[in-house]
Amino acid sequence: MSGAQGQQEIRSDVVLAARNIAKSYSGIQALKGVNFDIRRGQVTTLFGENGAGKSTLMKILSGVVQPTSGEILLDGKPIVFSSTTDARNHGISIIHQELSLAPNLSVRDNIFMGREIIGPMGVDFAEEERQVRELLKELEEDIDPLTPVEELRLGQQQIVEIARALSVDSRILIMDEPTSALSAAEVEVLFRVIRDLTARGVSIVYISHHLEEALQITDHAVVLRDGSMTASAPRSEIDLAWVVRNMVGENYELGSPPSGYDFGPVVLSVRNLVVPDPAGGGYNVVDHMSLDVRAGEIVCIYGLMGAGRTELLETIAGRLAATSGEIVLDGKEVSHLSIGERIARGLALVPEDRQRDGLVQTMSVGQNLSLASIMEFTRGIFTSLKLERALIDKSIRDVTVKTDGPDAAIGSLSGGNQQKVVIGKMLATDPKVILLDEPSRGIDIGAKAEVFRILAARAVAGQAVVYTTSELNECLSIAHRIIIMRRGRIAAEFGSDVAKEDIMAASGEAEAA
Ligand SMILES: Nc1ncnc2c1ncn2[C@@H]1O[C@H](COP(=O)(O)OP(=O)(O)OP(=O)(O)O)[C@@H](O)[C@H]1O
Ligand SMILES: [Mg+2]
Repeated sequence: MSGAQGQQEIRSDVVLAARNIAKSYSGIQALKGVNFDIRRGQVTTLFGENGAGKSTLMKILSGVVQPTSGEILLDGKPIVFSSTTDARNHGISIIHQELSLAPNLSVRDNIFMGREIIGPMGVDFAEEERQVRELLKELEEDIDPLTPVEELRLGQQQIVEIARALSVDSRILIMDEPTSALSAAEVEVLFRVIRDLTARGVSIVYISHHLEEALQITDHAVVLRDGSMTASAPRSEIDLAWVVRNMVGENYELGSPPSGYDFGPVVLSVRNLVVPDPAGGGYNVVDHMSLDVRAGEIVCIYGLMGAGRTELLETIAGRLAATSGEIVLDGKEVSHLSIGERIARGLALVPEDRQRDGLVQTMSVGQNLSLASIMEFTRGIFTSLKLERALIDKSIRDVTVKTDGPDAAIGSLSGGNQQKVVIGKMLATDPKVILLDEPSRGIDIGAKAEVFRILAARAVAGQAVVYTTSELNECLSIAHRIIIMRRGRIAAEFGSDVAKEDIMAASGEAEAA
């Protein structure tokens, strides 16, 4: 294994070097003396479990937070970044893991917020708009620069974040989970853009839990584990097994469909559901869909971004309105019921955008976990604190949340651990039907295996599970049945023994790629 660890000399191809960086947050040692090199014109990929310290290290290198100790060398010279603006002035930009856009502002205003283009007549909005159009064209994304960001789907918001980072001329561009909500086609465009940048000498740091995808763009891989660097090697010397081994120390299996029991009656039945495009596109995002799910059954809904998976689940949960069709839960029509009433009837949704929909940022980890199930502990006006506490402790263990404890602020958790809290919160309601929209987004391979194991156990216990994913291997794990959605319709339906190629062909992925 070659690598920079322990090396004292700064090699000439290293633009930025972190030396012995440590960071502690009130007792938690997030980084324990890390050496990390960013190589000129290369993609350095940083791998590591949830809470390993990846985002913390990147925030230090981009001026967002200050290290407790250690040194940063830019072109071999020591430097201190006092703020993100300071780092940006030195050519370092970051795309954050958690989207940081202002929802009610337009795409253009988000991209130029705080660094407006000033002409003789004040802010030159026309020039800003022209530059945004150019950036979006480069990213092959058909979005009007004047659209408010809140009207965009999650993946498009992520592309706006990327466009904002690209709008500054950077020497070093840090991408913390840039593709977690992107489609395969969008990822490919991003990778082409990254290659164009590295060809021009720009250095990239790339972080992702899509390990195979990340390896495609990696020139040099680095693994962080529990705040320490455990491995570093050029791409030519490593493979996926190397990454997993160094990340978690063992290999994980995502499981197989649970068997040895009979499915119960149909608990969720969707009949002829029609949902118009919420963004006013004039077409149906869910187009006469019908689907039956039995108690004990696990169904995976696979499809490209924009196929209508999110809208289908959100409509079943009552967040979007259908124009026609029926949703029957446990034999009763629920289309006219509110979100809360559907939850009370045993329907739970883990939404795609967990940052916005899933968590209350001002509450603690424990409060967030028990939020959805609070009714269960309420007798009259009293909440049984003891019961609630027991349930919170169990949830934290079940979904392996890495936290100081139930009283920690939700914002103190790493990105992936916040996602796990949302999953734990919905599972705690003990639903009849569990809907999960991309449950593995942002969570590491060990936690992913754990979540799938829990879902399989829930199915054996008689709950129905419906989840979406953009990763083939996740479909080919615990699902009894795989439904391929395409343009709001069911394009195909398979059993768990289907071949990867058939799924790709049915979803249109083969054409998109
Ligand atoms: N503001 C904060 N206050 C307290 N603790 C924090 C804060 N930010 C991060 N931490 C802790 O530091 C550790 C590292 O977190 P970090 O966000 O760097 O992990 P990560 O590797 O990016 O994980 P993920 O893959 O989940 O995004 C975690 O234990 C986290 O709880
Ligand atoms: Mg992170």
